[in-house]
Amino acid sequence: MTDIVDDNRTTADREVPQPANYVEPIFGSAPAGTHVWQRVPYVADHYGPVDDFTVDFDHADPAYNPIAPQVWKELREDGCPVAHSDRYGGMWVPITHDTVQEVAYDTENFTSRSVVVSVGRPGDLSLPAPIGGAPPITSDPPFHGMARRLLLPPFAPKQIEPWEPEIRKLCRDLLDQMGDITAGETVIDAAVQYAQHIPVNVIGRMLGFPAADEDLFRKFVHDALERIAEEPGTREGMDDLGKYILTQIQDHHEHPRDDLTSYLLNVEIDGQPVNDDIAGGMIVLLLIAGIDTTWSAIGSSLWHLAQHPEDHQRLLDDPDVMTFALEEFLRAYAPVTMARMVAKDHDFHGCPMKQDDWVLLPFPAANRDPLKFEDPDTFVVDRQENRHAAFGLGIHRCLGSNLARLELKVAIEEFITRFPRFELAGDVRWSVGQIRGPRVMPVRILAVAD
Ligand code: HEM
Repeated sequence: MTDIVDDNRTTADREVPQPANYVEPIFGSAPAGTHVWQRVPYVADHYGPVDDFTVDFDHADPAYNPIAPQVWKELREDGCPVAHSDRYGGMWVPITHDTVQEVAYDTENFTSRSVVVSVGRPGDLSLPAPIGGAPPITSDPPFHGMARRLLLPPFAPKQIEPWEPEIRKLCRDLLDQMGDITAGETVIDAAVQYAQHIPVNVIGRMLGFPAADEDLFRKFVHDALERIAEEPGTREGMDDLGKYILTQIQDHHEHPRDDLTSYLLNVEIDGQPVNDDIAGGMIVLLLIAGIDTTWSAIGSSLWHLAQHPEDHQRLLDDPDVMTFALEEFLRAYAPVTMARMVAKDHDFHGCPMKQDDWVLLPFPAANRDPLKFEDPDTFVVDRQENRHAAFGLGIHRCLGSNLARLELKVAIEEFITRFPRFELAGDVRWSVGQIRGPRVMPVRILAVAD
């Protein structure tokens, strides 16, 4: 326990930590004395365009996210419950609901030490399991449970529900800012002008960070989650993110206030204050997990409605259907794929998994498994049986699901009420990497509420 509590020195007093993207030029198998290591030397050409995802999987190929459901279907129909790729120094990709669930529940054979597959693995000098750099998502038992319990109270329904009026106002303000709309003519970008602003504003306010920094937060998310196949050490945003959080922590130490950051700087584990490194890791997690996940879910839901006016009309005619529609948006367009690392050599359904191999956990693919869901590739606006895995499975199940559902519900309600009909009006650009959602999405407004 002693290594997780404060020793009364502030982070500033301690040795300056290496930037998160610091890379020792060391290759091989989990060498000691490294912050980040690579199994194979980085060669940019090894991360070029994929010809066939069924034999050469790469979630960071920009061509993947636009067609991901088709890739999962092809893999399943090829009888391949677990795909393999040589990229990233070796990566496994379970595709069926059963195999995704099995990995998610097995914390003995799979560690959460790093949940984003990139060209560099965490080295011996990174905060090791069971804590990891962004608790609790990077933590393994038993520390995981302790860290998770600290975050449960601020994300409980009673704490989240009061945010509804503010989120509604935020959405209405964004719609107002789109200016005069001429039905049948005006084209707006539902991702850039709407979806991307909602979660970033809400989590920024919860953490007590300046609203003026919202663009910066989106840059941090882009660097952390989209630039994963770039040469190690070149993602300067990872370093900037660490520095930004340290500055905010310092400011909150000096000027404590009623927000999540001050809460995390004052919580205790076993009667001892949590140190700034662990609190900082949690803050990084909330900032990253709270932004492009929900942004993607809002965007994908509007993408669906732009192409399915019958579902849009049903929601306007019968608003109670929203309860079911929300879960169906989350199932069919689940935005979050997480990852694990193999903790020890073992055989997984005939796959010879080696320690430190990456394992992608595509919860969105599990949601499209016909053995689990009837007619999984069809969006059923009032689907009744819907035990989807969008928020994950097992001990790491999403802690922010109450907030995510509230943001998603309010964002969709406000958009479809203001614009009772809209359609796609140009090319959609999808995100790159483990979080899937539209980043550019022009829509033509066909009707405007009086
Ligand atoms: C639609 C939006 C969201 C989706 C689909 C989503 C999905 C997920 C998934 C799949 C996991 C499991 C990760 C794993 O197994 O490794 C997870 C974990 C987590 N999510 Fe979310 N998330 C969303 C929004 C949010 C928001 C808004 C927050 C908070 C601001 C949040 C905070 C967290 C945290 C703290 C964890 C880690 C829980 C743990 O490790 O015990 N998420 N989320």
